[in-house]
Amino acid sequence: MLISNRIKNTKISAIRKLTPFAKEAKQKGLKVYHMNIGQPDVATPKEYFEGLKSYDKKVLGYESSEGIDELRSAFSDFLKKNNIYYSPEEIYITNGGSEALLFSFLIMCDEGDEILVPEPYYSNYNTIASSCGVKLVPFKTSIDDGFHIKNKESIELGVTAKTRAILYSNPSNPTGVVYSINELQMIADVAYEKELYIISDEVYRELVYDGIKYESIFSIEKIRENLVLVDSLSKRYSVCGSRVGMIATKNKNLREEIVKLCQSRLSTSSVEQYTALSLLKIPMSYIESVRDLYQERRNEVCRILEKIEGVKIYKPEGAFYLIASLPVDDAEDFCKWLLTDFSINNETVMFAPAEGFYIDRELGKSQIRLSYCISVEDLEKALHILEEGLKVYNSKN
Ligand SMILES: Cc1ncc(COP(=O)(O)O)c(C=O)c1O
Repeated sequence: MLISNRIKNTKISAIRKLTPFAKEAKQKGLKVYHMNIGQPDVATPKEYFEGLKSYDKKVLGYESSEGIDELRSAFSDFLKKNNIYYSPEEIYITNGGSEALLFSFLIMCDEGDEILVPEPYYSNYNTIASSCGVKLVPFKTSIDDGFHIKNKESIELGVTAKTRAILYSNPSNPTGVVYSINELQMIADVAYEKELYIISDEVYRELVYDGIKYESIFSIEKIRENLVLVDSLSKRYSVCGSRVGMIATKNKNLREEIVKLCQSRLSTSSVEQYTALSLLKIPMSYIESVRDLYQERRNEVCRILEKIEGVKIYKPEGAFYLIASLPVDDAEDFCKWLLTDFSINNETVMFAPAEGFYIDRELGKSQIRLSYCISVEDLEKALHILEEGLKVYNSKN
């Protein structure tokens, strides 16, 4: 029996590639600091668990495929706080932001079509694209520019007759870059001129530091019909396991197709949709306090990394990730070695080798992507292991 080439050609998640080695390290009795995944350590708000307890339906039935009206309205109100205006009817509830991305790719692309994305990009974009038979085409950004978009031409270079959309996350996983309104205007201009869709993944929208004012591409009026907005509660409220996200668009043609895909999977979790209502009622001051916590961690991570010889970074403006360039030829080998051969006081650290965040893997060969979803105290210990590990690894090689 055969397996589809689409799936056979799909690469496993870059983030989890070294997981078996981390598992072995733990079996040997080592503590592993996880700086490889974006799983917030912040306690899920009590309102979530209260909401869960108050769910009192006697039959756990399907809900409307598009999502319950109350949650579509609550998302609509929530987005208004960021000057993003979608009516409840323009919003569909999805199984996390991941399903919203899958829906976008399936609706916008036939097999062999292309989506433009700034590189490095969230590695699951490639997993989802590849499983739909869609090709991601990168436009380059560089660590030297803090991964900002250089100019409009750098985006246009990748446009072909097969290009259907421009996709990005803002703030970005894996770089933490927050795009300025000028950069968003470049994306908007290319999309408008070449008649492309824009998929704006804003799952980290509120995690923006240093008082920077967040701008959504929604503010650029001329591309409203091109735009699909992807959002999720996962990171914002530390509820990655609840799988509540949404997709929104003003484009009526797209909405008709979204409904078909919503209907094909009948419903998302009824319990989680009602529980999500409790989360969206939490005052914004909660999210601001979470943002401040991550900002403090980002400051500490940058302070430490800047002092390590041979390590190159920039200061990310948002989300909870950064890409660091290390003084090694093969960062994947180094990350694996940290798990198999190196520890301090029975502790080691896990990072994600950055090559899985690039189409051109050579570009990320000496880089790692790290997340700061652990306490400041643990970050300090983990980065000390990195510093000492680099000395030992390089003296051996
Ligand atoms: C940029 C980005 N988009 C989307 C997602 C999907 O998250 P979820 O499906 O939990 O909403 C993630 C998760 O890490 C992400 O980093």
